[in-house]
This record gives sequence, C-alpha cells and structure tokens, in this order.
Amino acid sequence: MAALPVPLIAPALGAAAAYLNARFQIYYDLNLLGSVVPAVAHQAWWTYRGRLNFFYRFEDLATSKSSQTRDFLRFEDRTYTYEQAYDIVLRYAGWLKEKRGVKKGEMVALDFQNTDTFLFLVLALWSLGAVPALINYNLVGKSLIHCITKAKARLVLIDPSVAENVGDEVRAELSDTVFEVVTPQLESQMLSLEPYRAPDEVRADASGKGMAMLIYTSGTTGLPKAAIVSWSKVAIPSGFTSRFVGTTKNDTFYTAMPLYHSTAMLLGFTHTLSQGATFAMSRKFSTSQFWDDVRKHDANIIQYVGETCRYLLSAPTRICPKTGENLDRKHNVRVAFGNGLRPDVWNKFKERFGVETIAEFYASTEGSFGTWNKSRNDHSLGAVGRNGALYNILLGHTVAIVRVDIETELPYRDPKTGLCVRAAPGEPGELLFALPPNDVEARFQGYFGDKDSTSKKIMRSVFKKGDAWFRTGDVLRNDNEYRLFFSDRIGDTFRWKSENVSTAEVAQAVGLHSSIQEANVYGIELPNHEGRAGCAAVVFKPSALDSAGAPTPDTLKSLAEHVRASLPKYALPLFLRLVNDDSAHSTGTNKQQKTALRNEGVDPIKTDKDEVYWLKGDSYVKFGPKEWSELQGGKVKL
Ligand SMILES: *[C@@H]1O[C@H](CO)[C@@H](O)[C@H](O)[C@H]1NC(C)=O
Ligand SMILES: *[C@@H]1O[C@H](CO)[C@@H](O)[C@H](O)[C@H]1NC(C)=O
Ligand SMILES: *[C@@H]1O[C@H](CO)[C@@H](O)[C@H](O)[C@H]1NC(C)=O
Repeated sequence: MAALPVPLIAPALGAAAAYLNARFQIYYDLNLLGSVVPAVAHQAWWTYRGRLNFFYRFEDLATSKSSQTRDFLRFEDRTYTYEQAYDIVLRYAGWLKEKRGVKKGEMVALDFQNTDTFLFLVLALWSLGAVPALINYNLVGKSLIHCITKAKARLVLIDPSVAENVGDEVRAELSDTVFEVVTPQLESQMLSLEPYRAPDEVRADASGKGMAMLIYTSGTTGLPKAAIVSWSKVAIPSGFTSRFVGTTKNDTFYTAMPLYHSTAMLLGFTHTLSQGATFAMSRKFSTSQFWDDVRKHDANIIQYVGETCRYLLSAPTRICPKTGENLDRKHNVRVAFGNGLRPDVWNKFKERFGVETIAEFYASTEGSFGTWNKSRNDHSLGAVGRNGALYNILLGHTVAIVRVDIETELPYRDPKTGLCVRAAPGEPGELLFALPPNDVEARFQGYFGDKDSTSKKIMRSVFKKGDAWFRTGDVLRNDNEYRLFFSDRIGDTFRWKSENVSTAEVAQAVGLHSSIQEANVYGIELPNHEGRAGCAAVVFKPSALDSAGAPTPDTLKSLAEHVRASLPKYALPLFLRLVNDDSAHSTGTNKQQKTALRNEGVDPIKTDKDEVYWLKGDSYVKFGPKEWSELQGGKVKL
C-alpha cells in the first residue's frame, strides 16, 4: 500500500467517474480511493519534510491554538487535553534520556495494559527517535523472555498491575536487562523533571521503511514473532482508515482492545491521532463494562475484534437502576469499526444496539495491504472486503487469490508451469498481496532479527518468474459482485470424506442456532478413520442449560436438526465439546484458538473434565470412554 502510484490514481479518478455508474458501486469506490490517495500523499509530504515520525502529529495538535485544548485522551476518570498530554510526554522523555540514557534508535520494551502512562511512554520514545517494543502483558516465562530477547531491549518498563507476570526466572535469564516497574511514585519523579524536547535531528530520518515500533504477532503455533511496524505502516493505515470511517476532530474513538496489538494501536490510537480526535480506552475488555465506558467517554466510534460483538450480544440488556430504562441504545455510537465480525452476529448487533454503520476490515500486522467493507445494509453481510469495479481496475493487480493444496498447506503449483493458479470466483484460495520484486522491504519489513520467518511469508515466482507476493495465510473467496469473504485460516481447513471443510463456515452455521453463544470448530483425528472429523467446542447460552449446567435434551436435538439442515453431510460437526467462556478464545484479543483443542481431539483422557457429545441419529448424545474404546476397536464407522 505504501507504494500506490498516486499520479496514476488521481487523474484516473476523474475520467473513470464520468462513465462508470452506480451499478459498479462508484460511490463506494470513490470513498475508498478518496481515503487512500490523501493518506499516501500525506506520507510523501511528511517524509519530504523529515516529519514522518508520528510525534509530529501529536506535537502539531498540542501546540496549535485551534486544537491544544481539545481532549486528547479519556481513560478511567482522567481526561487530558493535547496540551496537557504534551507536557507530560516531554517530561517522560526527559527522564528516559537523562535518567535512563535512552538513545536514538534504541528499542525499549513496554509491558503494559491499556493505560495513559503506556501512551505517554510510546510518544516520549518516539520523540527521542527510539523504538517501543510492545509486549503482550499476558506473557510469562519463556514467551516473555523470547520477546524481550528478540527486541534486544536493555530496558523493560512495566505496568504495576502486571508486574507479577515478570517472574524471577525471567529476570535471572536476562541478567543484563533492567526491569523497571512504573509505579505512581516513579511517575511523580518523572513529572518533576523539566520538559525535554529532543532536537529535530533525532527524528528527521524516519522513512517509510524505518522502524516505528515492534509489535508481536501471536501465531497459532510457536512463540510470538516480532513484526517490524514501519512508519508507512503507521501513517497509511491511520490516514486511510480514518478517512474511510469518516473520523473527524469532533469524534471520540473508543477501544477496549489491547494496545500491544496493531488493531488498537494503529487502527485505533494513531488513526485517532491522525485526525486530531479524542481517544478513549479501557484497561482491558470486559463484556459488562463495555457500554458503560462507551457512555462515560461519550464515544461515537467503537472498535471490535474477533468475537467481541458476540460477547456483547450475549450479555443481558442493561437496565438503568434509577429509571428502569433500557440502556442498550443509550449511546452516541454511529460506527463500529473492526475485524472478524461473523455474519451470524452482524445484524443482531446492529439491531439491538442501534449502530448505524459497520466498517469491517481485513488486514494483518505484517501485511502490506488491507481490504475493507463499510456497510449500512445487508448487501455484503459477512464480507470482509468489497471492492467496486473501479478499484479493481486500478489496484486489482496487487491482490490475488490462489488455489491451495490442503495437504502441504501451500499455494498449489501447476506441475507443468511451476506457477500458482488463480482461484475461480467462489472458489476459496489463499489471499496474496503483491510485493515489489526488487525491493520487497519497501512494503514488507518482515520480522525483526528473524530471516527465516520473514522469508516464509514471501513467495517468489507466483504468476511469473521472479515476482514476489506476501502470503497472508488466510483463505478467502471472491464473488461476482466484488465481495470478498473470509473462508478460513490456512491449516484450519480439514478434509473429511474426501471433501474440504472450512472451519470458519461451519462455526458460522453452528453459531446461528439460538442456544449457542460461541462455537469454535476444528478437525480431529479419530482411530481407524481417514481424514479429520468436525468437532465444535461450544459455549451454550445459560438459557439452554438445565440447573446442573448441562444442555437439555431439547437443546441437543434442536441443534442436531439445525446443523443437518444448514450444512452438507461431510461438514457436520460430529462432535461437540462443552467448554467454558475462557477456554473458547485467547486472553486479550478475543480471537479463537484451535491448536490445543485440535490436538486433544475427543480422547477422554485428554479432554479433561469437558463433556463431549456426538451426533447420533437425530440428536447429540453423550460420548465417553466406552464410546471411545468402540472407536478404537474399529466397531464404529462414522
Ligand atoms: C465540529 O463541530 C463544530 C461545532 O459543532 C462544527 O462547527 C464543525 O463543523 C465540526 N467539524 C467537523 C469536521 O465535523
Ligand atoms: C459489508 O458491506 C455491506 C454494505 O454494502 C454491509 O451490509 C455488510 O454488513 C458489510 N459486511 C461486513 C462484514 O463488512
Ligand atoms: C480439496 O482441496 C484439494 C486441494 O488441496 C483439491 O485438490 C480438491 O479437489 C478439493 N476437494 C474438493 C472436493 O473440493
């Protein structure tokens, strides 16, 4: 995205608009392109003036008469104007430089929940030309050591509320690293110092490729990978999404998603900063607190990720204790902006909470591109991207969907040509983004100090010898109306009865049943069977359970009828595993995880205390050690 050809797009817009009509979704396209062009133009202008470092966006707002008294941040019971925040940031910068010797280019690890201090430290480090490495505060032990080591951080600053996660074994292993808990006392000391504004020279060389921060991606397997977030990955998505969503300086953007991830940091915080709007946040996501915080901070744009909206929907209606009024629609939110909203939740969410627009995006931290879908109606319900004809003509060559080989989990290559094959409309395939073959780094900076992982994300000779493409690892399909639908994560799709089953599509179908709060689907190996059988780890709504917490026979029967009616035979989830809220998804990000569940399968020794059911005739019935041994003995054929 960083290298969109501006001179090509701008004149083409005017000419093309003249003859393309609404049937080709021209308005939508203009909105989309109109969002991209200024974002790219701004980046070019800032780079030219040596002011690409986002500290300048903040400083300009804090020092300009028209914006300095505007609210910059609302958090818990505190509110800071731009001017007030600027003063604090410069004092923290003074402490980092004078007391801790932080230098330009140095990486400093920040291990924080969402707090005002966290954002002040990020801005203070940027002001010094230093680089924050954002650590997932849930990490402990080996994973934490890994992340700090990857960043080569000499200094780790820690939120007091997560300090206990940094155990003795971590400190012992990293004996050269300074760990410092940022207590209120320490913050008072920082505030007592004089403001320090580092000279422009330390920030002047911030380039599109230059590193703005390090954000760790939580892969489904293995240790987190440190993705380099360049200044263009800060500037372009921030500028693009804020225009696309229509964020103005009068808006308050609220998030409860963790700032250590790109969603909240880039599409939330720097998005808001790029428009000089007000940023509001909660320390972490809480289903019961979410709307109260939205109301308290008077937010009109909210952010969601993964299953967030499903959790909000599963919560009972909030009634005002004083007036008895239903508070569900008592807010000023006009846009919900995020990623991963399932079609089964989409409309229910809009209706119950009265949110007019949903802006769903698809992008990855490491990726060099995103796709977007903004909607006020049902037309592309569930689509992650919706590109009109004009957009496709101009930018279509930078995105491709290619056939995947499920066995190898790699894009399929034609044995004759050795090249990849584009998926037909409707056929699922892996989404790829084009990279400049001779300067891959211009778009994809890769993982810090990890050439191996970096090269695995880049594929060469895809459509012609020597070209370069970025692998998203996501399987999507396109339809004839330029809509793009998420199908699955690569590696999640499984094969049963010689058919390919998308776990995301099965989960959507199961999730549409009225008894289901959440469904996470994966394929499991069974004794004496080829391929993998579908299993759904489910959380039932409390109303579907009896007093002992077990699903009622009616519920199980109705669910069995529902899946049989909505899925082809080979895609039926043959097993149900009852899990509790917490094991259905990962902490912090509200994204589902499958690896452990998939490895445990339905072996009663491994499923621990969870109840397992299997599909027998017209209902789901208990599955236990006896049934397992029948499978092992080859007495049952599914
Ligand atoms: C912001 O609000 C002010 C006062 O209501 C209004 O005059 C102005 O046009 C608004 N600006 C934007 C960009 O919406
Ligand atoms: C996509 O856009 C359409 C509007 O055209 C909207 O109805 C739909 O809800 C959107 N879906 C997603 C997932 O973004
Ligand atoms: C399943 O995927 C494989 C590619 O891995 C493909 O060869 C096969 O035709 C697909 N099967 C069906 C039934 O679509």
